[in-house]
Amino acid sequence: METTMARRFLMLFITIALATLIVNVRGYGKSSSVGEFSGGNYPDVMRKLKAFKVSFLRHDSISLPPTSMSPSPGPSPSVRPSPRVYEVTSYGADPTGKTDSTEAILRAISDAFDVAGGSSSSDGLFLMEGIVNLGGAHINLEGGTYTISRPLRLPSTGRANFRITGGTLKASDNFPVDGYLIDLSASYDNGNEYNYEYITLRDLMLDSNFRGGGIQVVNSLRTSIDNCYIAHFTSNGILVHGGHETYIRNSFLGQHITAGGDYHERNFSATGINLMGNDNAITDVVIFSAAIGIMVSGQANTISGVHCYNKATGFGGTGIYLKLPGLTQTRIVNSYLDYTGIVAEDPVQLHISSCFFLGDAYIVLKSINGVINGVNIIDNMFSGSGKGTDIVHLDQTIGPFTNVDQVVVDRNNVKGMKIKATVARRWVQGNGSSWTVDFNLALLFPNRINIVQYALSTTGSSIFPNHALRNVTNNRIVIESDVAVPASVFVMVDQGVSSQS
Ligand SMILES: *[C@@H]1O[C@H](CO)[C@@H](O)[C@H](O)[C@H]1NC(C)=O
Ligand SMILES: *[C@@H]1O[C@H](CO)[C@@H](O)[C@H](O)[C@H]1NC(C)=O
Ligand SMILES: *[C@@H]1O[C@H](CO)[C@@H](O)[C@H](O)[C@H]1NC(C)=O
Repeated sequence: METTMARRFLMLFITIALATLIVNVRGYGKSSSVGEFSGGNYPDVMRKLKAFKVSFLRHDSISLPPTSMSPSPGPSPSVRPSPRVYEVTSYGADPTGKTDSTEAILRAISDAFDVAGGSSSSDGLFLMEGIVNLGGAHINLEGGTYTISRPLRLPSTGRANFRITGGTLKASDNFPVDGYLIDLSASYDNGNEYNYEYITLRDLMLDSNFRGGGIQVVNSLRTSIDNCYIAHFTSNGILVHGGHETYIRNSFLGQHITAGGDYHERNFSATGINLMGNDNAITDVVIFSAAIGIMVSGQANTISGVHCYNKATGFGGTGIYLKLPGLTQTRIVNSYLDYTGIVAEDPVQLHISSCFFLGDAYIVLKSINGVINGVNIIDNMFSGSGKGTDIVHLDQTIGPFTNVDQVVVDRNNVKGMKIKATVARRWVQGNGSSWTVDFNLALLFPNRINIVQYALSTTGSSIFPNHALRNVTNNRIVIESDVAVPASVFVMVDQGVSSQS
């Protein structure tokens, strides 16, 4: 019974679909024409029908030659706005990668950028002042692999709402070593504050062929790099320079194709992602080979869900390097630092939490001008080999940290490594008039204790002594009493706050 119903339903659907298709082919198609069938419970049919029509239309637009992209001058009333999908093979790009497709793809991009009117057309969608809305113009790489010998640099700046998707770009053997496969920069100074706005690069595989980098984003706003696989770069997989809000999501970057434990790891040299700008986000990204996974020299960037297993610390690599001493403003959360750690120079406002450090990976706080302020390293997990590696190191080779305030390193859990913290709690027992608690094993900073709390318990003794904190030098707490007494002393110290705060 149900099968029969389903069949009828299917037949009806096919009939309606074909009818609509025919109507559509003749150019009189209107979605309202199927509204007559709304007597029954057919929302599903309608939805499928719509999807079917859309797929048909899209196919139709694919088969249009590129010349029909511009509106025909004829007076025909049936002229629709041209679709803005540019199939690169229509421009002669070679999807097998055998011949050079640079010119063909650049021509497609150039046509996409030529969309008549831009934001001055009737759509009324203005973006940043002076930036033309391309209305979602779309370069479709059609699942091909294209060899290019020059960077795909967009032809003019001051454009927005444009995307490149769905294929592989490979640098040729003569690709310039300082180039990027996709280059969102200005070839000349156009005086615009921003080069581009809302550019989307999605579902791309970029092979830099050990010549240059993957994607360069210069002075742009609201750029999306999504589901990209970027390999064989020698400079940066992705370089973001100036601008803001480049969102790099769900992507994979590696200089060499490897899945860890690579024999050549010692020689990894490039940088996965280089953020030389503010307000960017890296979310759910894997960096599987590079000397430095992520280099940050702009402020207010956030790094989340990143797995770095690029060059191990033991070979001189770094997972995330924060090279902006004095005002860092970086959040690193929910990330996985795998045999490679984090280095932060003079961190000021830095938050690292909910991360997992594996294989003796640790955090280095490196003094440049001796400033460390507003740093939270909390609620992380560290796992190591039992060699006694500290979870947080101070690099004071240039000079000591002298300006320390609001530093909290606490509540991290540790297996096979040595805990370091700015807050510590211990207790000792003794029979006498002096109790010493040495916190050097636990505390991060040498000879620095700002706050001490202690309790002296003489449970079981009838003596009621006077007692006091006598010394905090070198992270050793000394408590003394006026008479000898068997006592337990509980001490809590904090070295993360300055005496002024
Ligand atoms: C690293 O590179 C050097 C010089 O290019 C080469 O001699 C050496 O064999 C490489 N080592 C590994 C492990 O690949
Ligand atoms: C503590 O030391 C004193 C002598 O210094 C001794 O008389 C006393 O029994 C000791 N108390 C305990 C609980 O060991
Ligand atoms: C505190 O202890 C250090 C040695 O740890 C000592 O040099 C210093 O004189 C002591 N300070 C006081 C006030 O006793």
